[in-house]
Amino acid sequence: MCGIVGILGRDAVAADIVDALKRLEYRGYDSAGIATVQDGHLDRRRAEGKLRNLEALLNEAPLVGRTGIGHTRWATHGPPTERNAHPHMTDGVSVVHNGIIENFRELKDELTASGTTFSTDTDTEVVAHLITRERNTGASPVDAVHATLKRLEGAFALAIVFAGEDNLMIGARNGPPLAVGHGTGEMYLGSDAVALAPFTDTITYLDDGDWVILTRDSMDVRDAEGNAVERAVTKSVASALMVDKGNHRHFMIKEIYEQPEVISHTLSHYLDFAKGEVRDLSGSIDFSKISRVTISACGTAYYAGMIAKYWFEKYARLPVDVDVASEMRYREAPMEDGGLTIVVSQSGETADTLAALRYAKGEGQKIASVVNVRESTIARESDVILPTLAGPEIGVASTKAFTCQLSVLAALTLLAGKQRGRIDATQERRLVEALSEVPRHITTILKDEAPYEALAQDLSRARDVLYLGRGINFPIAMEGALKLKEISYIHAEGYAAGELKHGPIALIDENVPVIVVAPDDDLFDKTISNVQEVAARGGRIVFISETDAERAGCPIAASLPVPKCDSFVGPLIYTVPVQLLAYHTAVFMGTDVDQPRNLAKSVTVE
Ligand code: F6R
Repeated sequence: MCGIVGILGRDAVAADIVDALKRLEYRGYDSAGIATVQDGHLDRRRAEGKLRNLEALLNEAPLVGRTGIGHTRWATHGPPTERNAHPHMTDGVSVVHNGIIENFRELKDELTASGTTFSTDTDTEVVAHLITRERNTGASPVDAVHATLKRLEGAFALAIVFAGEDNLMIGARNGPPLAVGHGTGEMYLGSDAVALAPFTDTITYLDDGDWVILTRDSMDVRDAEGNAVERAVTKSVASALMVDKGNHRHFMIKEIYEQPEVISHTLSHYLDFAKGEVRDLSGSIDFSKISRVTISACGTAYYAGMIAKYWFEKYARLPVDVDVASEMRYREAPMEDGGLTIVVSQSGETADTLAALRYAKGEGQKIASVVNVRESTIARESDVILPTLAGPEIGVASTKAFTCQLSVLAALTLLAGKQRGRIDATQERRLVEALSEVPRHITTILKDEAPYEALAQDLSRARDVLYLGRGINFPIAMEGALKLKEISYIHAEGYAAGELKHGPIALIDENVPVIVVAPDDDLFDKTISNVQEVAARGGRIVFISETDAERAGCPIAASLPVPKCDSFVGPLIYTVPVQLLAYHTAVFMGTDVDQPRNLAKSVTVE
């Protein structure tokens, strides 16, 4: 992952680089660093941990220089120490890198054999040494970078500056995104347009294999062979405003509270509430001509895909394969020519999801993407963009983006069902109405957080927690477990309730809380049978349901009531209690809720 930025400025650039890095901290926060060209020499400041540590260091020891690069790190090779923090440099070259140089061991051995000494455990350092070795043979900076790029395998976005070159910066892209920002007498590089938004909205996105030579007033893009290529200059809509927490303690809870509004906003984009109809915003997708849909995504977005499978199969009678993107990309699954692949991604930059998209494209699939960031690589490489209107999601644990993904996929289900003659006008009206009530139901849940706060203290003492759900609510059990483990670090697993007796029931004793997602739908009685099996073995049951806990017919340790809703929209409603439970548990335990350890918001490495 990691975020990179580079500025060829008119004045000292360190403060602007920090500003841009703040916007990229979602890509990693293990360490941060900046290097500038000062009086012909390279100088750098690096600090372990969050960006505020680097800011404090810069206050004590400022960096001057009008040309500089910066980095915020999510560690891949080498622990997250200051020593391993980027920029990496030699006397003549400084480099920041997002991605993984896969052949770095071989390159390092080669360089070591010819006398190079390494001072970090990173893969990136080889890039600085390779360029330096070329420079030492008399190559110009441009030729040295070109020769070096030819040696690199793997995924990289790079920004490079040189001692003695105050008006030169070189960028390269192979995999992770890289954007050039055009200023007036200034030039920028950044992992995304949002990072550059305070400085410019005039952006050129580099294609894979591109590298770019920048001065303050010129951009020269080259392809892998070194030929000059044209890349469009576009206007970005990324906002320069930094999102703040308002009066909330964390971004995560703010984003949980935003759900009624952003779901409403997203739904109204796809549904005509007045007519009780779904709008056809799917572009050229004709579901009546499609016999199978493939959905691919990672993490929480994958669970949205799983839920969509239940929806599409039940309401549109359309078979769906749903695959974790990191598996799909290498599975070599045959795909029906002319079929539809839907990828789901908040960031639109997840490396595995992007690779799954490209695989599906190669198999002749039409690609629709459900994305939150419309200018992302995934959006740009899709045939049809189905935006979620969740607004920027800052908390690393996805909340509002997930329920907005569900909103889009529910609307798409209606469209598919309609086009395939499986949903008639009366049913369409009923389902649109059920969706229109989702924001109200979520608001009701959010009115009383006290039961969640009380339960959080109990959960915080658990070593393991099980989440159970059946049918379309099984993915909600998995989402609940994922939320809890990522922000509270408590081990949790989501299981299909009927699967419990095939193994995991052995874990049950009085120390294991079992959280049951139990909507009052046609599977309720089946779920209750499984709850009773847990109760019979002393398990402590937390019951999330719109129905009275007494109907469980066994002792319930805690009950989290949910408003009565149509089972079609159940996943949207039942998500909120599992989000709140994870949030309050993490707050009680004092973890870093918005930036949990080891994680990053956008996963641009595989
Ligand atoms: C969990 C979470 C992750 C993401 C996953 C995919 O709370 O946020 O599991 O859902 O990394 O990210 P996107 O949606 O950006 O592709």
